[in-house]
Amino acid sequence: MIKQHVGLGEKSYDILIGSGILQETGARIAALCGRFKPEDGIAVVTDSLVWGLHGAAFSASMAAAGLGFSPVVLEPGEQNKSLDGLGRLYSDFAAMRLKRGGLVVAFGGGVVGDLGGFAAATWMRGVCYIQVPTTLLAQVDSGVGGKTAIDLKEGKNLAGAFYQPACVLADTNLLATLSGRDFRCGMAEVVKYGAICSKTFFESLRERPGAAELPGIVDMCCGIKSGIVERDELDKGERRLLNFGHTFGHALETLGGFRRFNHGEAVAIGMLLAAETGEKMGLTEPGSAAAIRAVLEIHGFETVCPYPPEEMLPQMEMDKKNEGDQVQLVLIKAPGEAFVHSTDAAELRSLC
Ligand SMILES: NC(=O)c1ccc[n+]([C@@H]2O[C@H](COP(=O)([O-])OP(=O)(O)OC[C@H]3O[C@@H](n4cnc5c(N)ncnc54)[C@H](O)[C@@H]3O)[C@@H](O)[C@H]2O)c1
Ligand SMILES: [Zn+2]
Repeated sequence: MIKQHVGLGEKSYDILIGSGILQETGARIAALCGRFKPEDGIAVVTDSLVWGLHGAAFSASMAAAGLGFSPVVLEPGEQNKSLDGLGRLYSDFAAMRLKRGGLVVAFGGGVVGDLGGFAAATWMRGVCYIQVPTTLLAQVDSGVGGKTAIDLKEGKNLAGAFYQPACVLADTNLLATLSGRDFRCGMAEVVKYGAICSKTFFESLRERPGAAELPGIVDMCCGIKSGIVERDELDKGERRLLNFGHTFGHALETLGGFRRFNHGEAVAIGMLLAAETGEKMGLTEPGSAAAIRAVLEIHGFETVCPYPPEEMLPQMEMDKKNEGDQVQLVLIKAPGEAFVHSTDAAELRSLC
């Protein structure tokens, strides 16, 4: 088992990564007693797909540690990361009498993690919670860093809070049951970490990983992300580098009506477009885009943007990370090193 520490003062926590560590969940939760009181209630937020596949193993580990809990099982899908989904959690927390000293466990992908985390952040002004991420995306990205949110009909992630978990438990064995498409979605973020922070790691991704490589990959990504979060918890500077490929990616997700591309597929093409744009600006080493394309193709990503610049640009100008009329683009010098470049619509138009 690999243990990482995220150093955030009194909000510090450990990330535990390994194959088969789901069976230790109960014991790990019991070890957190003191930060919460089991008699105040434990709510396990999950979705029916995850619960059907891995609920029995989770329950067995809780029983072995002598911990009772109330499962809150949602339908899978982003539509539950909503005000309705949040209301459902609050009702269930009230019905089970979850008290201020209780615990919320988010057992699922990024949807369950973001929704369960936001419910924990706001229930009785904040109860202790832990993340047990079950998708590759959640293990390398959403489960770490303390961003929680729900979507509103006006836009994605519009209501949320920075709220750090007390612990993250990432069992890479759970990734074996992911669909190929959901696994690939997480791989886009994995490639992103290499592209922004580590040339060596980026180059190691020229082969598809086997199950034995997954703990090392999750460890590497969590290490990069938690380092950035330690230096910029509230997303005012360096944390923006994690948005490499995302300004273009969000435009692709929106234009595809959030159906044509999943997040990772959109970010994959977005990283390629960012590298190509950087090359045109003379800010990115020639050949970088080709290197990114080659890695993405190995992992089965589409690498052609189906939308013309005149459709992409208006979406990018609306990106919520922009300041005034400046578009904040994350570019790379070469794979392994990223920076933020502030540009405006006119410059972007001239390049596309
Ligand atoms: N908080 C953050 O910092 C952050 C970062 C990135 C993304 N996100 C959010 O994460 C969400 C996407 O996360 P996601 O891709 O994990 O989506 P998800 O939670 O919807 O999971 C994708 C699918 O995989 C299924 N699934 C989960 N674990 C499984 C397993 N072990 N085996 C089989 N199926 C499994 C789920 O039921 C679901 O159908 C988005 O809402 C996004 O906004 C948050
Ligand atoms: Zn992302």
